[in-house]
Amino acid sequence: MNEVLFTNIAQLVTPGAGVQRGAAMRELTVIPDAALLVSGGVIRWVGDRAQAPGTPHEHDLGGVAVVPGLVDPHTHAVWAGDRLADFEARVQGVPYEELLARGGGIRSSMRATGAAGVAELVNLARPRLQALHASGATTVEVKSGYGLDFGAELRMLEAVRALQADFALVPTLLIHVPPTEGRAKYVQAVCNELIPDVAQAGLASAVDVFCEKEAFTARETRAIFRAARAHGLPFKLHADQFHAIGGTELACELGALSVDHLEASGPAQIAALAGSGTVATILPGVTLHLGLPAAPGRALIDAGGAVAVGTDLNPGSSPVFSTALALALAVRLCRLTPAEALTAATVNAAAALGLSDRGALVPGQRADFLALQGPDWRELPYVLGGNPVREVWVGGQR
Ligand code: NIG
Ligand code: FE
Repeated sequence: MNEVLFTNIAQLVTPGAGVQRGAAMRELTVIPDAALLVSGGVIRWVGDRAQAPGTPHEHDLGGVAVVPGLVDPHTHAVWAGDRLADFEARVQGVPYEELLARGGGIRSSMRATGAAGVAELVNLARPRLQALHASGATTVEVKSGYGLDFGAELRMLEAVRALQADFALVPTLLIHVPPTEGRAKYVQAVCNELIPDVAQAGLASAVDVFCEKEAFTARETRAIFRAARAHGLPFKLHADQFHAIGGTELACELGALSVDHLEASGPAQIAALAGSGTVATILPGVTLHLGLPAAPGRALIDAGGAVAVGTDLNPGSSPVFSTALALALAVRLCRLTPAEALTAATVNAAAALGLSDRGALVPGQRADFLALQGPDWRELPYVLGGNPVREVWVGGQR
């Protein structure tokens, strides 16, 4: 086990390990002139440089701030085709939901993705994942959901599996939009064929559903969650993006890992999330790109909820290729404090994926950390557009 002491850290900043709720999201530990001991990919010791244990191998980080690697808990990084015509139409006033209802939007990405093979999907996704990684993401969730049929869904998940050789990825089976005809049969087949097949092949770590007027109802969502549970898979939800139609309450009742979006959530949904163990994942890139209301991040934390933040990287609602930018937007658009945003993008984002072994710089956690460009960690929530991250370390390796 090769042991390395990372030194010349101007400031080491971390939330506590594990999910943080409410005011605890603001409680960061800040250690000036710190050192970090890593062996076997795991953090062994963290503290004041003057008290560091001796070791033959030292690595000088150059006098910058160090924070935990970011976890991006919500992306659709595998897709083919583009949504550039949609974008042009939208900025001239055609709503996102109307494009979808007309058979465009998500459905156009499904046609292009359904026609692509695994190797093509891998080649398309790789540079997107590289961009997220360079922005500080050391673990990234990736969803399926642009499959026209079950074969295409499996190809998307196989592409994610292939990319796991190069990135720490968490694959999710997303049941995205129903077919225009025969939706009852489709939901049945999802429950009786697709979920069992995916679970059997170990191709996904969780099941997600898009619960929305233009997608699945709360009743259909319940049936899909039941099937996921029956096959040993945790579940999560896209809910309250445009309309609050009961998905958030259902997900909290059934113990979902997370509910994501929440732009249209009101007091009832905030109370349901705050009173449950389900993480509220906000996606401020969607607010920016679609001009939607912002998710009530401030109110969720004030109510005692656990908030996470992600890019939602996808071609239609959030072409955001930087996890650090999502963190920075959560401060501007959803009124998180910089400290809360760091917690949202690290330990809480890990909790949204069911992971408790990463996101904090404390002994026993994975040695995933970022050396920032300068000595003050607040550059991370501050910078927009530039990259505040100089070096990305995963399991103690660059
Ligand atoms: O999280 N809202 C549903 N699904 C994605 C968007 C997918 C798309 O527009 O291609 C989302 O926003
Ligand atoms: Fe999404």
